[in-house]
Amino acid sequence: MNSDAMMTLDVAALHHNLLTVRQTVPQSRIMAVVKADAYGHGLQYLWPYLARDVEGMAVARVSEAVELREFGYKGTALVLSGFDDADDLRAIDEHHLQTVIHHPRQVALLSKTKLKHPLTVWLKIETGMHRLGLAIAEVDTAYHQVKAHPQVADVILMTHFASSENKDLSITQKQIEAFQRIIKPYSEPCSLSNSAGILAFPNACLQWVRPGLMMYGGSPFLPAEEKPSLKPVMRLTAPIKAIRTIQAGDAVGYGGTFVAKEKMDIAVVGIGYGDGYPRLLPNGTPVWLNGKMAKIVGRVSMDSVMIDISDYSDVAVGQRAVLWGPELTVETVANYAKTDPRELLCKMGIHRVQRKIIGDNNGTNDR
Ligand SMILES: Cc1ncc(COP(=O)(O)O)c(C=O)c1O
Repeated sequence: MNSDAMMTLDVAALHHNLLTVRQTVPQSRIMAVVKADAYGHGLQYLWPYLARDVEGMAVARVSEAVELREFGYKGTALVLSGFDDADDLRAIDEHHLQTVIHHPRQVALLSKTKLKHPLTVWLKIETGMHRLGLAIAEVDTAYHQVKAHPQVADVILMTHFASSENKDLSITQKQIEAFQRIIKPYSEPCSLSNSAGILAFPNACLQWVRPGLMMYGGSPFLPAEEKPSLKPVMRLTAPIKAIRTIQAGDAVGYGGTFVAKEKMDIAVVGIGYGDGYPRLLPNGTPVWLNGKMAKIVGRVSMDSVMIDISDYSDVAVGQRAVLWGPELTVETVANYAKTDPRELLCKMGIHRVQRKIIGDNNGTNDR
């Protein structure tokens, strides 16, 4: 419905961003990180376009990888958190998935499980994130046990950066050095970098890179203006549902968190936290409308948010405001929400908002 909130997904922007990855790290293969429903964009819509530009796709969970197969993707698919039990491992085997192993418990389970198909294992090594990853002392045993499994065809060594978005690059530098020290005895392909790693340490990127945010056009760095020529894939818009004039002293929205100091015009925009637009966005958060920024007044509610349009003379019901997209970056809005742009994007995975693909040479598709 044109009267609903809408997300356009610009697949030409997606292609452009992947070209930027390719040009930044021409020596690396691209494992596109598409967990959490392709960071809220909708994996079922994006995967065919991604498949043209990348060598593989990574999700967090086995269930997400199985879903990716059900969508029809037959290429390399990696489960970043690996398997927890024999059922997971069977699903990995059956669906020809690749898996991360980050704990000796997984090595033990793999060692006693017969598989039907050749398996590629990504051994994840802890170098400073302290989340998932084999401790240095566990790496050698795990490596040899995994290699000894008759069905393990390939081993790839990986780590994950904890602070690559930080202006202080010394923490990441230490992780790179630690990783290089640990992997020295093994001659296997390696993978280090997420988006920030690709941009800040292009020479450290080895056989595989794992871009997430930058592929969707977001910058891992703040201020976002520092990003290379990335283009937002998602443009989130919603229609104006009503316009009203309020008087000095009138409170707006639940809890009356905004009180007008003078007579003003406000518009009700049809998107709210029930769509994934964050409730905690404060008064003053920008919303793009008719070529300039309006500001949120009052609390975001489930289906709508109010904006100050006192400065406008050309606003009408039905016109669309942009919550984020090329006109207003998601990083800017995330700053107002005091969070990371990935969180805002992922919340759109609620799928109440319509999706429309644009930028496809074969035409524009409504989904
Ligand atoms: C293991 C791993 N690699 C790569 C990424 C992609 O990160 P980014 O969105 O910063 O590119 C993630 C995302 O959280 C991840 O968990």
